Amino acid sequence: MHISAELRQLFARAKRVVVLTGAGVSAESGVPTFRGGGNTAVWKGMPFDVISSAEMVERDLPAVWEWFDYRRNFLQELTPNPAHYEIARWQERFAELTLVTQNIDGLHQKAGSLEVIELHGNIWRARCTACRTTYSMVQEKRPDACFECGDSLRPDVVLFGEMLPPGAFEFAAVRASQSELCFVVGTSALVYPAAGLPEIAKAAGAYVVEVNPERTPLSSLCDEVLTGKAGEVLPLF
Ligand code: OAD
Repeated sequence: MHISAELRQLFARAKRVVVLTGAGVSAESGVPTFRGGGNTAVWKGMPFDVISSAEMVERDLPAVWEWFDYRRNFLQELTPNPAHYEIARWQERFAELTLVTQNIDGLHQKAGSLEVIELHGNIWRARCTACRTTYSMVQEKRPDACFECGDSLRPDVVLFGEMLPPGAFEFAAVRASQSELCFVVGTSALVYPAAGLPEIAKAAGAYVVEVNPERTPLSSLCDEVLTGKAGEVLPLF
């Protein structure tokens, strides 16, 4: 794995940088990825996209909570890895760093990233199914019902069959269209619209860099592909 002189120079002088992360950035922390193995594919006989679906929230909300409570419990023990910490350091390094993640695990924040655009929500938040009031579950335990209106709560994450949180992608897209440098870290780049961000950056003239041990559908669009694990590659900058 070699970092080009061009990328080193750009990294040294860039002002507006976008980083898009996916499950692979948390792999070295012990979070299973969605594609390519892992142990979260099936929960009590239900495939991931069935238990984590909008339909299941309607049909069996307690089962959805059981699955998400289990996942939070599992994530609680995990800590950020060098990739999360390196990205957090980039906040000071660049005039404008935009971190966009598809992950719901909160590990970027745990590593010190302050502003994180979460395209798929956050597993440490619950949301009222009626009035949309949100509740943090980082320190507090999950409330039984909404304190505002008494209705049921659900995980504040994007489930299969649901839209992204209003405005999140649009904001990220504006930042991508203004960026000089765009890193795509640990994502299979199969799920849209997130996978469209590097395309927007590229079309706007940004230098696009992929960090992944494997090739993805985005690799051919990238100006540079750094083949390796995020926790090993990113600290080289
Ligand atoms: P995937 O599981 O699809 O892809 C993970 C990527 O990380 C793969 O390309 C791996 O090669 C790469 N990878 C594995 N280990 C790595 C490491 N140590 N360093 C860097 N890369 C590594 O995960 P996502 O692309 O994040 O959506 O998946 C996108 C979305 O699909 C998820 O957010 C989720 C799912 O449906 C929702 O839940 C809404």
